[in-house]
Amino acid sequence: MAVITCIDDLKRLHKRRTPKMFYDYAESGSYTEQTFRENTTDFQKIRLRQKVAVDMEGRSTATKMIGRDVAMPVALAPVGLTGMQRADGEIKAARAAEKAGIPFTLSTMSICSIEDVAAHTTDPFWFQLYVMKDEDFVDATLERAKKAGCSALVLTLDLQILGQRHKDLKNGLTAPPKLTLPVLLDLATKWQWGFEMLQTKRRFFGNIVGHAKGVSDASSLGSWTAEQFDPKLDWSKIARIRDQWGGKLILKGILDEDDARLARDFGADAMIVSNHGGRQLDGALSAIRMLPKIREAVGPEMEIFMDSGIRSGQDVLKALALGANSTFIGRAFIHGLGAMGEQGVATALEIIRKELDITMALCGEKNVHDLGRHNVLLPTGFLDEYA
Ligand code: GLV
Repeated sequence: MAVITCIDDLKRLHKRRTPKMFYDYAESGSYTEQTFRENTTDFQKIRLRQKVAVDMEGRSTATKMIGRDVAMPVALAPVGLTGMQRADGEIKAARAAEKAGIPFTLSTMSICSIEDVAAHTTDPFWFQLYVMKDEDFVDATLERAKKAGCSALVLTLDLQILGQRHKDLKNGLTAPPKLTLPVLLDLATKWQWGFEMLQTKRRFFGNIVGHAKGVSDASSLGSWTAEQFDPKLDWSKIARIRDQWGGKLILKGILDEDDARLARDFGADAMIVSNHGGRQLDGALSAIRMLPKIREAVGPEMEIFMDSGIRSGQDVLKALALGANSTFIGRAFIHGLGAMGEQGVATALEIIRKELDITMALCGEKNVHDLGRHNVLLPTGFLDEYA
């Protein structure tokens, strides 16, 4: 097999080895995909300042995320249907994260259940919650996450309604896939995926099926969200969930300075500056462009994480330079998983760790805590092009 040197190599293998509907699910943005594209192209506009003749021995990428020691400022983001990219995908990704010394976040819309991931890992993982109309289901899910030892709740605020991703509709996305002729033809070239999938029992939304009452269709993300997600989610409901949870709380999906101040004043332990990987509001600004404004709005103390657009260690460095304490990656690890299972996630994490370390050294920095605006050059008007 060809030598894998970057996330793009894993992406190519992911595409080759995974059914089209799941690769497309990961590699999509909503509507015109403008925001999805700009999440990455805006990172490319940021340039790094090279520094020479600086002792670069004794570098460290280690830091803390909400008090937890992490080997690098990267966590695995919650990604729906991860267990459809590869059989038992959430367990595989959680194990790779554990070995790499970084947090794994389990999505509500995962295939492997909370209990299943807990049974196959030793480090506490984080749980991401989508707020449903059914409060009993929400409360029971929170109890399950507590019982499984989840050490933080990541509450997603930007998906009360699902952004339309054209490819998912065209592909007829479901979990597990319905075996239509196009799906069967596609699977003919993805035999390893099918073989592994036949060996596992984990082929349905593991946190939903058997737990939610009166579910008419739990195989389609689109119809499930339309029927079950709570359109009335507001700060008073968030407070109810915070009280019910009682542990560390990370608010995900902040992209606006006023919302960021509200999240800070609400007392969240951290916030994730995110536009959901360009999968929700098409036309929103990229997360990296909003990040410095949000840092300025909330001040230096608030713990800020950032996702949407990170595909390399250079991107992690740029996010930290523009005000993030740490980052989350979604597609970058999903490409690894789809390419090579647990080993692929481990490879993705090692690629990013090494890129961050080498880039840091060439920027004349030894410690991720010292990264800042002095490390980057921004195009004129980058921060106030849109007002
Ligand atoms: C929701 O989890 C999504 O598909 O972005």
